[in-house]
Amino acid sequence: MTYPESKVEIVRAMEYTKNQEHLDTDETKYKISRKKKLQERCLIGVLTIICCTLIVILIVTFKSGHHPISQNCLIKDNERVFKNNTIKFIHWSDIHYDPFYNETVPSKFFCRQQLALESDNYLAPYGRIGCDSPLNLLENTLNAMKNITEDEEIKFMLLTGDLSGHRMWTNFSGADKVLDNIAIVSSKVHSTFPKIPVFPVIGNNDLPGHYVLPNSTSDWYKKLLTFWSPLILCSGCPGYTRNLIRERVLQETFLEGGYYNTSIADGKIVALALNSLYWSVAVERSVETDRKAVDTYSEKAYWFSNYTDVYVTIVARNYSNLIIGQFFAHTHKDDYRLHSFSSNISFSQHDPLMSFLLLAPAISPVYHNNPAFRMLSLDVEKLSLIDFTQYFMDLVMATEFSNPVWQLDYTFSEKYKSSNPFIDAERINELNQQLLNQTSNKFWKSYVFSRETNYQPMKYSRFTLYCAMRFVHFQSFQQCRKKYIVPGG
Ligand SMILES: *[C@@H]1O[C@H](CO)[C@@H](O)[C@H](O)[C@H]1NC(C)=O
Ligand SMILES: *[C@@H]1O[C@H](CO)[C@@H](O)[C@H](O)[C@H]1NC(C)=O
Ligand SMILES: *[C@@H]1O[C@H](CO)[C@@H](O)[C@H](O)[C@H]1NC(C)=O
Ligand SMILES: *[C@@H]1O[C@H](CO)[C@@H](O)[C@H](O)[C@H]1NC(C)=O
Ligand SMILES: *[C@@H]1O[C@H](CO)[C@@H](O)[C@H](O)[C@H]1NC(C)=O
Ligand SMILES: *[C@@H]1O[C@H](CO)[C@@H](O)[C@H](O)[C@H]1NC(C)=O
Ligand SMILES: *[C@@H]1O[C@H](CO)[C@@H](O)[C@H](O)[C@H]1NC(C)=O
Ligand SMILES: *[C@@H]1O[C@H](CO)[C@@H](O)[C@H](O)[C@H]1NC(C)=O
Ligand SMILES: *[C@@H]1O[C@H](CO)[C@@H](O)[C@H](O)[C@H]1NC(C)=O
Ligand SMILES: *[C@@H]1O[C@H](CO)[C@@H](O)[C@H](O)[C@H]1NC(C)=O
Ligand SMILES: [Zn+2]
Repeated sequence: MTYPESKVEIVRAMEYTKNQEHLDTDETKYKISRKKKLQERCLIGVLTIICCTLIVILIVTFKSGHHPISQNCLIKDNERVFKNNTIKFIHWSDIHYDPFYNETVPSKFFCRQQLALESDNYLAPYGRIGCDSPLNLLENTLNAMKNITEDEEIKFMLLTGDLSGHRMWTNFSGADKVLDNIAIVSSKVHSTFPKIPVFPVIGNNDLPGHYVLPNSTSDWYKKLLTFWSPLILCSGCPGYTRNLIRERVLQETFLEGGYYNTSIADGKIVALALNSLYWSVAVERSVETDRKAVDTYSEKAYWFSNYTDVYVTIVARNYSNLIIGQFFAHTHKDDYRLHSFSSNISFSQHDPLMSFLLLAPAISPVYHNNPAFRMLSLDVEKLSLIDFTQYFMDLVMATEFSNPVWQLDYTFSEKYKSSNPFIDAERINELNQQLLNQTSNKFWKSYVFSRETNYQPMKYSRFTLYCAMRFVHFQSFQQCRKKYIVPGG
C-alpha cells in the first residue's frame, strides 16, 4: 500500500444500489448471489489496521444458523437497545505512552531525561509537540472521552494500535518495557470504560522489536491477550454490549497471529481486527530504525504488493457491498483513502469497485500534531456510517495556560457538505475530487488544516496528497504523481 494507516473496516450486506447498475459483470453476479445469502443476516465487518503497517479489525455475521453470532442476529427486540437505529463508537489511536517522559526536557531529546543535555525554558506536563505521550495526556484524554460520551451511549471503542511509545528498544529500556506500557494503557482504558468493549489491534511499536513479529503462539501474543481479553470480552458489560465471542475462540486466532473477530450491534455486525503487520515491507528490518518522519506521502509502499492486491480485491471487489467501513491509523493524520480495484488512473469519476478507509488522528503529538479522537455514528438499520465528530486538545494553549481542555473540532457532515447522507466510497470520492476544485477552495482548506489536527500544517504537495488518497496501487500512485507536475499547493 502506498499508505497504510487505516485501521478498521466494516462490511455491509444490504441493498446497495450502486451495484445494481453493474449487473452485467461476473463480479457483480457473484456479489449479488453472495448478497442474497447474507442479506438478512447483515454481514458487517470492521477492520482495524495499525501503525506503519496495518492492523485491521473486521466484524461479520453469517446467515448459516449454527454460528452463535448469527443466532444472536435472530434476536427480535433490537429496538430495546437501539432507540433510533443509531449507535455510536469511538475510534482513537497511536497513544504511544512514554514512561520516560520528563516535562522539563525539550523535544530534541525526545523529552527523555536519559537523553537530555539541557532543560527547556518551560514545563510541558500535558505533552509536548514532537514527543510521545506522558501518562498525564493519556489520563486527560480518557477523562475527556468520558465527559464527552456521558450522554451519548457509546457502544464500543476501536483502538488501532501503538499503545507503547517509540524508541523503547534502547539501552535503558527493552521489550519488557513495551509490555509494561501496553499493560498500563490497557488497564487505564478498561478502568475508565468498564462497561463497553474496547477492540485493540497491534501496532508496529507494540512488538518485541520495531516491526519484529513474534512467532506464532509466542509468549508475546499470550501476554497481550492477558491485557486485552478483559477489554475485548468485557465480561462486566451490561447484556447488550457484552461481547458474544468466547474466550477460547478469541485465543484461537489471537495466539496464532494477533488478529480476531468479534460482534457489535447486538450481533448484527461483525468487526474483524486484523494484524496487517504481516503484510508490511518494514517487517523485514528487524532492528529499530528512526522512522519518525514517516508520512502518508513518503512515496513508499507500506505493504508488499501481493498483499495489497488480495486486500483490495476483497474490500473493493468481492465484498465491497458487505463492508461498512475500514478504520485505520498509523500515519498520525486525520485522513482518507480510496481503494480502487481498477489500476487505470484515467478513471475520474465514480468507480463501482471502490472502497474507502478512514484514518484516525493520533493521541501522541510526536509528528507535530495535536492529540485528537473521534466519535462515529453508525446506522444499524441501513448498515452505513453516517457521520463523525472529532475532538482535540490544543497543546500549545494547554501548556501556555496550564489548562488541558479538550474541545469540539468538527463534524464531518458539516465540514464536507454533500447531498449524500452516508460516509461511503462515493462520499470519499467526492471529497477527493473536490480537493482539485478550481472554483472553490473549501474542501482543500478543510482537509489540509485538519491533517495535523489544528497544529501547523506540515510542508506538503497538493497533488501528492490528492494522489495518495486516490490510488492504493503503488504504480498508479506514481503515474498520478507524474500526471500532476506542479509542486507546492
Ligand atoms: C470468528 O472466528 C472464529 C474462530 O476462528 C470462527 O469460527 C468464526 O466463524 C468467526 N466468525 C465470524 C463471524 O467470522
Ligand atoms: C439518535 O440517537 C442518537 C444517540 O442517542 C442521537 O445522537 C441522535 O441525534 C438521534 N437521532 C435522531 C434522528 O433522533
Ligand atoms: C526531569 O529531568 C530533570 C533534569 O533534566 C530532573 O531534575 C527531574 O528530576 C526529572 N523529573 C522526573 C520526574 O524524573
Ligand atoms: C470533565 O468534566 C468535568 C466537569 O464538567 C470538568 O471539571 C473536567 O475538567 C472535564 N475534564 C476534561 C478532561 O475535559
Ligand atoms: C548503548 O549500547 C551500545 C552498545 O551496547 C553502546 O555502544 C552505546 O554507547 C550505549 N548507549 C548509551 C547511551 O548508553
Ligand atoms: C522465532 O523462533 C526462532 C526459532 O525458534 C527464533 O530464532 C526467533 O528468535 C524467534 N523470534 C521471535 C521474535 O521470538
Ligand atoms: C508476498 O511477497 C512477499 C515478498 O516478496 C513474500 O515474502 C510473501 O511470501 C508473499 N506472500 C504471499 C502470500 O504470496
Ligand atoms: C474474488 O472472487 C473471485 C470470484 O469472482 C474468486 O475467484 C477470487 O478468489 C476472490 N478473491 C478473493 C481474494 O477473495
Ligand atoms: C483507462 O480508462 C480510459 C477512460 O475510461 C480508457 O479510455 C482507457 O482505455 C483505459 N485504459 C486501460 C489500460 O484500461
Ligand atoms: C466546485 O465547488 C463549487 C462550490 O461548492 C461547486 O458549485 C462546483 O460544482 C464544484 N466544481 C466541480 C468541478 O466539482
Ligand atoms: Zn504510531
